[in-house]
Amino acid sequence: MSGPLAPTPSGPAPVLLARGVGKVYQSRGAAGGPRVANHDLHLRLDAGEVVALLGPNGAGKTTFLRQVAGQLLPTSGSIVVAGVDIVAEPLEAKRFLSVIPQECQPMQELTVEEQIRGFARLKGVPAASLDATVEEILRDVGLVAERGQIVRELSGGFKRRVLIAVAMASATPRLMLLDEPTTGLDPEARRQVWSVIRGLRRRGLGILLTTHYIEEAEILADRVVIISGGRFTVSGTVEEIRNRLPYRGRLIVLRADRLTAAGAEAVRALETRWRVTLREPSTIWFEVPDPFDRDTVGELARLASLGVQASLRPVSLEDAYLTVVGTPEALV
Ligand SMILES: Nc1ncnc2c1ncn2[C@@H]1O[C@H](COP(=O)(O)OP(=O)(O)O)[C@@H](O)[C@H]1O
Ligand SMILES: [Mg+2]
Repeated sequence: MSGPLAPTPSGPAPVLLARGVGKVYQSRGAAGGPRVANHDLHLRLDAGEVVALLGPNGAGKTTFLRQVAGQLLPTSGSIVVAGVDIVAEPLEAKRFLSVIPQECQPMQELTVEEQIRGFARLKGVPAASLDATVEEILRDVGLVAERGQIVRELSGGFKRRVLIAVAMASATPRLMLLDEPTTGLDPEARRQVWSVIRGLRRRGLGILLTTHYIEEAEILADRVVIISGGRFTVSGTVEEIRNRLPYRGRLIVLRADRLTAAGAEAVRALETRWRVTLREPSTIWFEVPDPFDRDTVGELARLASLGVQASLRPVSLEDAYLTVVGTPEALV
């Protein structure tokens, strides 16, 4: 094995090594023919690392996760989980996997503890270590106080935790796959799920999650992989991805449809200087080379003196995402 995906000679084997993974569906293509769902995907994920696969609906996130989970055969490439090829030895590889599918619900009529215990037994946790495993999971996922409650009576955020707990219910979890773990949750419940995921990372699990929330990727992930049209288009830490943008900040003009003549003239003058990346009736975004330099900050003051409401901010992951994936409409 060689190249950037090869493990370093002294380092431990990655929990996931995907190379050249692709999927062609034989049905429902745009022209009725085969549809390429993803293509030539490479990913290495190490223990204790959280990687977020960020992309809009239909980008191919679930397809890739199902390939890694051994639920969908790749048409090309190879996927190795904790050193075991998922296609060649699916049962062996699945011992290391904890999977939470998109839009999945826990069983409603059991208690939290019954459910975790039942799944742990199913997944082959030996009777002698069952109690200890269940206790550890309840603690890790923050469900100790809720252990006796019927799942149906829990809030959405706690139900999501039960799903994580159930996925953890195995003797040898190494890689956790979470497909849109916080979609549909309120902000408070999302934060709770994030803190559970962070706790699992501290325990040394490798975590691959998908999301279409830029903020989630930014907050949670050690590394972000942007997926668009079935391809990994950009990957790196949030900082690395931001640094790839050819500009360092944005100037945003608000209420652009209510400018005085002098204000409109000043905004038009900016357009000869800086590139416009978004133009809506009331909002205009400019790319600026440096949002903190004196000249740019001075421009903001001059605009204010002409009654133009504007703000400056450094580039974010969102800017990089929009550059790769398209306009803000792609986000909704
Ligand atoms: N079973 C299938 N047969 C044909 N096409 C599919 C199937 N499942 C998904 N697709 C297509 O593959 C593409 C990627 O879908 P998916 O992986 O679900 O994206 P995401 O999870 O990012 O929303 C979409 O164009 C989707 O319509
Ligand atoms: Mg999906």
